[in-house]
Amino acid sequence: MGRPINSVTRLRVTQLLLLSISTLYTTTWAQNKNTTATQELLSGFTATPDSSISSFQPLLTDSTGSFSLGFLRVNRTQLALSVIHVPSSDPLWVANVTPSARWSRSTRFTFNGSLVISDPSMGVFWSTNTDGDRVSLLNTSNLQIQKLSDPPTVVWQSFYFPTNALVENQNFTSTMSLVSSNGIYSMRLGDDFIGLYAEFNRDTDQIYWKHKALQAKADIVQGQGPIYARVNSNGYLGMYQTGNTPVDVQAFNSFQRPTAGFLLVRLEPDGNLKGYYWDGSKWVLDYQAIQNECELPSPCGSYGLCRPGDGCACIDNRTEYNSGGCSPAVSGDFCGGGEAQNAFSVLRRKGVELPYKELMGFETMSSEEQCEKSCEMNCSCWGAVYNNASGFCYSVDYPIQTLVGVGDETKVGYFKVRKGAGNKEEVGFGVGVGLVGGAVVVSVGLVGFGGYMFWKRKRGIRRFSEEEEGGVCPGPYKDLGSASFRSIELSNR
Ligand SMILES: *[C@@H]1O[C@H](CO)[C@@H](O)[C@H](O)[C@H]1NC(C)=O
Ligand SMILES: *[C@@H]1O[C@H](CO)[C@@H](O)[C@H](O)[C@H]1NC(C)=O
Ligand SMILES: *[C@@H]1O[C@H](CO)[C@@H](O)[C@H](O)[C@H]1NC(C)=O
Ligand SMILES: *[C@@H]1O[C@H](CO)[C@@H](O)[C@H](O)[C@H]1NC(C)=O
Ligand SMILES: *[C@@H]1O[C@H](CO)[C@@H](O)[C@H](O)[C@H]1NC(C)=O
Ligand SMILES: *[C@@H]1O[C@H](CO)[C@@H](O)[C@H](O)[C@H]1NC(C)=O
Ligand SMILES: *[C@@H]1O[C@H](CO)[C@@H](O)[C@H](O)[C@H]1NC(C)=O
Ligand SMILES: *[C@@H]1O[C@H](CO)[C@@H](O)[C@H](O)[C@H]1NC(C)=O
Repeated sequence: MGRPINSVTRLRVTQLLLLSISTLYTTTWAQNKNTTATQELLSGFTATPDSSISSFQPLLTDSTGSFSLGFLRVNRTQLALSVIHVPSSDPLWVANVTPSARWSRSTRFTFNGSLVISDPSMGVFWSTNTDGDRVSLLNTSNLQIQKLSDPPTVVWQSFYFPTNALVENQNFTSTMSLVSSNGIYSMRLGDDFIGLYAEFNRDTDQIYWKHKALQAKADIVQGQGPIYARVNSNGYLGMYQTGNTPVDVQAFNSFQRPTAGFLLVRLEPDGNLKGYYWDGSKWVLDYQAIQNECELPSPCGSYGLCRPGDGCACIDNRTEYNSGGCSPAVSGDFCGGGEAQNAFSVLRRKGVELPYKELMGFETMSSEEQCEKSCEMNCSCWGAVYNNASGFCYSVDYPIQTLVGVGDETKVGYFKVRKGAGNKEEVGFGVGVGLVGGAVVVSVGLVGFGGYMFWKRKRGIRRFSEEEEGGVCPGPYKDLGSASFRSIELSNR
């Protein structure tokens, strides 16, 4: 009879041990959560990342509980300071911290008049350089540092430093830019238009989409100041100059339909500008600047060929298009450097066109040979597309991206392909990205996210089409939601 009793006792001891371990764990966890969610931060506030949190550590919430400022864990080891939309867990704003901070006990987030991210051994990574008294997160998702004068004044706000998204009622001015998470695409305002630009190479800034104000309801008046843009709650992206009468309206699907949903536009990693509203459980696609996939700046990647209605192929018909694209990423030009580095072979293809040729410069030339020659001789030229009918010669001064396949065989492309140098090239590219990184990547903290998007983008057009046609719950949001972000629990829910 001794043995069974003994066994049971042992079991109870084990249970007790397990119970106390789990209680201990729960308590620690609850304490961590409690120290984190408040509605304002006052001078003296300090927080450090909690090693047990795998995705988001809230620090400050708005009065409605819809938005939260906190530490976003990126690529496992990096820390980004971000304002997220709580129901979806999607980041709306990310502080441009360079170099990116680490998710480690030594990283410190403080408010002493300025919001500061620092590390005792590495110094200050990021600071708002302000002299405020209070930090609060408004119910619009705007993070503000206020001075408690009478009346209180705003000394800094996140709305002035947008990341890749513009939320409802956030003013986008000519001094701001939206940058896609992969750092390649940006949105800026011109005198009378909204422009989308691609940085396919250092120091090149190719416009690929331009929407000019129609000036239907109001005119742009010279000398009355620059225009600005804003997502209006009535379901449109408006351009304004003065007052509240838009000089242009780009209507969303939900235009003037009363939607309870929170609206935003976001510059996606594929270069498209998309509008969404939150229907309570998911993001619903409400607007997209570029309708057809082949009109995107590079839907099939480097040296790809987008065939309307027929997906991706490669410019070089001997190469099969696959998830890895047609060519490894290249950068730079054929100027300077050694002879080996400047060597190239030539690829030609008939029936191709640049996706945004209306926005590209061209020269009129009398023959295809002349057009090719002008590119061949020019070390900053990567390729040229000649239209035999019009005589237009478009030269491309960045590594070849995706061309559009057209039936018209008189449109001929000439493309340089960098020779050999295999590994050396990749190293060069890595360094290049590193150098440019500070300037173009809006947040190094988002590099992981960008990498993920890049990987996703490379999975090809088929998937892209599926998402487009669904019209609901587009990829990035959906995938972010299900992958790393769904596991987040926020204490204010
Ligand atoms: C959280 O902490 C505050 C003080 O910082 C305390 O008043 C409150 O009771 C705590 N809440 C919980 C649930 O422990
Ligand atoms: C992110 O993580 C991946 C693999 O985990 C790594 O290859 C990549 O270099 C990381 N990116 C950065 C910017 O640290
Ligand atoms: C706040 O902290 C930062 C970083 O430690 C420091 O550079 C700055 O001078 C401090 N500001 C004030 C007002 O103490
Ligand atoms: C947001 O805050 C403003 C004032 O700060 C208030 O008028 C408005 O009703 C609030 N909106 C929501 C949805 O709580
Ligand atoms: C946006 O600009 C308009 C017009 O200048 C102004 O009335 C409004 O307060 C601004 N909104 C924000 C959130 O700054
Ligand atoms: C590939 O292109 C070349 C030159 O345009 C052409 O001669 C050849 O027939 C093509 N091959 C295939 C398989 O389409
Ligand atoms: C290109 O245009 C020239 C003159 O306009 C014409 O002679 C030639 O046949 C055309 N070439 C092609 C391939 O259409
Ligand atoms: C070489 O090409 C670049 C980019 O296409 C262009 O800006 C430049 O003017 C060209 N140089 C000459 C000498 O044609």
